[in-house]
Amino acid sequence: MENLDWKNIGFGYRKTNFNIRCWYKNGEWGPLEVSDSEYLNLHMAATCLHYGQEAFEGLKAFMGKDGKVRVFRMEDNARRMQSSSEGILMAEVPTELFCEAVGLAVKKNMEFVPPHGSGASLYIRPLLIGTGPEIGVKPSGEYLFMVFVMPVGPYFPEGFKPTELVILRKYDRAAPQGTGKYKVGGNYAASLVAGKKAKAGHYSAVLYLDSREKKYIDECGPANFFAIKDDTYITPLSDSVLPSITNMSLMQLAEDMGLKVERRKVPVEELESFQEVGACGTAAVISPIKRIYDEDLDKEYLYGFDPGPWSTKLYQKLQGIQYGDEPDTHGWTTVIE
Ligand code: PLP
Ligand code: COI
Repeated sequence: MENLDWKNIGFGYRKTNFNIRCWYKNGEWGPLEVSDSEYLNLHMAATCLHYGQEAFEGLKAFMGKDGKVRVFRMEDNARRMQSSSEGILMAEVPTELFCEAVGLAVKKNMEFVPPHGSGASLYIRPLLIGTGPEIGVKPSGEYLFMVFVMPVGPYFPEGFKPTELVILRKYDRAAPQGTGKYKVGGNYAASLVAGKKAKAGHYSAVLYLDSREKKYIDECGPANFFAIKDDTYITPLSDSVLPSITNMSLMQLAEDMGLKVERRKVPVEELESFQEVGACGTAAVISPIKRIYDEDLDKEYLYGFDPGPWSTKLYQKLQGIQYGDEPDTHGWTTVIE
């Protein structure tokens, strides 16, 4: 393996040794296969190519000081992929199969797990696609489940340094009763134009409002939204945001630290009163936000140039558990042996 500059690897695709594949045919899942190819041989009429029968997941493995590799909350990712399958009528990957494939993908690429203290981790990308040929709009009878991995740094290059978000009411990532709560490719295709506009303005991401009324905060392009006000952790309750496993973890940790936790509708005007704001997700971990610009109203909200005290505590606690430096009191990690 090439010698990687672990501290500066960034968040991007990188080839590793092996990926794991499993086919669903005739109503059942076959055995796990280990492949060293980065390519798939797909039927040109596969439903994933035409009708968006595609769901993915994102989770991470971390190298501990003790040399143990821990995967964070993989059963929750398995359940979320099952929910995505239900949402777009794909075969469900059973939790046990999902976890076995994730474990095997990590084991087969152990040399790519970044060293403890580098700030990097192994990003795990499970993928489920409809592979059967259909030309009418209907679900495939055949599926491929894959897991591949790669070492990554933080999603937002600033890491734990505050960045900026932009509100652009002209764009939606998901419809009110649509697929926003599922991790399906179509949501990300729908976010590309607005995301490009945000990046051109040097913003890290778009902060989406609810698509029905544009009154409430939904989430960021690739991460959930949270805020801190008067010792309270506040995060939007919405049918069209992805149920973030990082956010669920932060809500628990916030409660453990004595913060009040509110999951409720968050009116956009409330941005004015927040003391700390952050984006959270597997890839982003916590990205503190220093400024939100509402382009339509030409209005800005400022939150300070350094990460706030609660965001810092939450970040340290979460990463402490993930890297095995802190006791895993909630049983969130699985050691891969
Ligand atoms: N929201 C969206 C749209 C995402 O793509 C992600 C990334 O997975 C998240 C939120 C954060 O979810 P999680 O914490 O489970 O990674
Ligand atoms: C993640 O945080 O795992 C994501 O999937 C976000 C992004 C890379 C789509």
